[in-house]
Amino acid sequence: MEFILYEQKGSYAVITINREKALNALNSTVLEELDQTLDAVNLDEVRALVLTGSGAKSFVAGADIGEMSTLTKAEGEAFGKKGNDVFRKIENFPIPVIAAVNGFALGGGCELSMSCDIRICSDNAVFGQPEVGLGITPGFGGTQRLARLVGAGMAKQMIYTARNIKADEAYRIGLVNAVYPQEELLAAAEKMASGIAQNAPIAVRNCKKAINQGLDVDMDQAIVIEEKLFGDCFETQDQRYGMAFFLDKNKDKVKEPFKNC
Ligand code: CAA
Repeated sequence: MEFILYEQKGSYAVITINREKALNALNSTVLEELDQTLDAVNLDEVRALVLTGSGAKSFVAGADIGEMSTLTKAEGEAFGKKGNDVFRKIENFPIPVIAAVNGFALGGGCELSMSCDIRICSDNAVFGQPEVGLGITPGFGGTQRLARLVGAGMAKQMIYTARNIKADEAYRIGLVNAVYPQEELLAAAEKMASGIAQNAPIAVRNCKKAINQGLDVDMDQAIVIEEKLFGDCFETQDQRYGMAFFLDKNKDKVKEPFKNC
C-alpha cells in the first residue's frame, strides 16, 4: 500500500494514514486503500482497531483539495459517495474503532474521526469543518454525524462559521473523550484497544450493534434490538465462562482469555 500502514499487535491492530507530506489528506487512493485495509482485517484475531495519522502534526487535514478542485457535479457526488462508503464501513465495522487524533482533523479528517466509535486526541489537535470557506458542504458525513455527536446548534455553528476548535474545546463539547500530551496519545489508544480486546468479543460486537442500530430508531424498537442482541450472547462459551468465573468462590482462580465463541 502506498498510503496506509497496518500493524496487528496481538488482539488489536493499528491503521495509520501515511501521507504525511500532504498532512494525510484523503485522495481517492487513500480512500481505496483504507477500504481494502478494512476488508483485510483478520476478524478471527483482531478485536479492536486504532486509527491514526502519520507524524506529529496531522491526523487528516481533509479531503484532497487538489483532487476536488476540478470535479464536475457528478464527480463531486461520486467522490462524496466514495468517502461515505468507507466511513460507513468503519461505523458499521464489527469491532470497535478508536480514532487517535494526533493533530489536524479538518473537513474529511474530522468526519473520519466521527465515523469511529471513540475519539481521543493529542493536545495539539485541531478540529473543524472548513468546507464552506472552500465553496462546498462537508461531504463525508459531517453534516450528519457532527449534529448527532455535539447537537445541532453547535454543529451548525462550527459548519456555518468554518471556525476550527482546539482540543480543549473539542473535549468540552463532547467531540472527544479525552486529551493527551502528543507523545502519550498512541499508547493511550492502544491501551484502550487492548482493554476492549480482553472483554468478551461477541458481547462487545453486540454492544456496538445495539448502540448504533438503536440510535436510528425510536425507543420501543431500540429496546427490542437490545433484547435480541442480549439474548444472542447466551449459550456462548464466553457467557458461560464469564458468569461461571464470577460465581466460582475460589479466590486463587485466574481469568482466562475469552475465546470469541
Ligand atoms: N488537501 C490537499 N493538500 C493538503 C490538504 C488538503 N486538504 N491539507 C494540507 N495539504 C498539503 C498542503 O497543500 C501542503 O502541500 P505542499 O507542501 O505541497 O505545499 C502540505 O499539505 C502542508 O500543508 P501547509 O503548508 O498548508 O501546512 P500549514 O501548517 O501551513 O497548514 C493546515 C496546515 C492549516 C491544516 C492547512 O494545510 C490547511 O488549511 N489545509 C486544508 C484544510 C481543509 O480545508 N480541509 C478540508 C478539505 S475539504 C473536505 O474535507 C471536504 C469533505 O468534507 C469531504
